[in-house]
Amino acid sequence: MIEDRFTLITGATKGIGRAITERLIASGERVVGIARSADPSYPAPLVLADLSDKVARAQALSFVMEEYRVVRLVNNAGFNRMQPLGDITIDAYQEIFDLNLSVTIDATQAVLPGMQAVGFGRIVNISSRSLLGRPGGSLYSAAKAALVGLTRSWALELATQGITVNCVAPGPIRTEMFEKNNPPNLQRSRALVAAIPMSRMGTTDEVAAAVAYFLSAEAGFTTGQTLFVCGGASISQSRF
Ligand SMILES: NC(=O)c1ccc[n+]([C@@H]2O[C@H](COP(=O)([O-])OP(=O)(O)OC[C@H]3O[C@@H](n4cnc5c(N)ncnc54)[C@H](OP(=O)(O)O)[C@@H]3O)[C@@H](O)[C@H]2O)c1
Repeated sequence: MIEDRFTLITGATKGIGRAITERLIASGERVVGIARSADPSYPAPLVLADLSDKVARAQALSFVMEEYRVVRLVNNAGFNRMQPLGDITIDAYQEIFDLNLSVTIDATQAVLPGMQAVGFGRIVNISSRSLLGRPGGSLYSAAKAALVGLTRSWALELATQGITVNCVAPGPIRTEMFEKNNPPNLQRSRALVAAIPMSRMGTTDEVAAAVAYFLSAEAGFTTGQTLFVCGGASISQSRF
């Protein structure tokens, strides 16, 4: 039975991860989440771990594998720090690449044998519109672009095994992470929103809807794709 199996969501309690959780729970799916801090309002089992810590990550993933039969994975945990060229530090590079990429690689390799055992799997990587380029955010852009490379290559490797790998690339979505990196009082934050063809930010529910499609059984012929959920900002930063 695939139906009684779990979706694992990294970075699950807030923002986009929370909206994905709530959407899946509302449609009767089983979810297990990972985050650093306890959240009694989280509507599913939650494993506490700082995924950027290699040892804690390995322990959390092996705990999840022992306790839950996972056939769907959303690699959602991510991290950004704005650093213009000239101010880039290797510490920031390591933090950004670790949370966006090392965690994705480890989580995917942890769940893969369970997916292969049942001949079914859905993997969704959360990238960003920033993969197309973001002034002052080149490390984040590079890490999110690398996720597309992982998605496309893994899709090919798993294409005959009933396991799909896809990517959702959101534009600006009002969450804790977005507000921290783009304080609403800054001119560059206002300009970012003004440049979106739809003239508004997206919602976490709009991202969750795209993720839910890729996770569905019906999406079985769709793999290696990147879907921008960005109000048109991946097409142009101008309406004129
Ligand atoms: N918001 C946007 O505009 C936007 C646009 C494009 C792409 N994205 C991508 O979407 C994903 C989610 O972003 P978001 O805006 O929804 O973030 P968010 O609102 O800040 O939520 C992040 C979630 O991840 C958890 N988390 C953070 N660091 C963690 C760590 N080291 N280990 C374990 N859990 C951790 C947080 O819980 P704890 O704090 O308790 O750990 C929280 O549940 C990220 O990959 C981000 O790059 C976001």
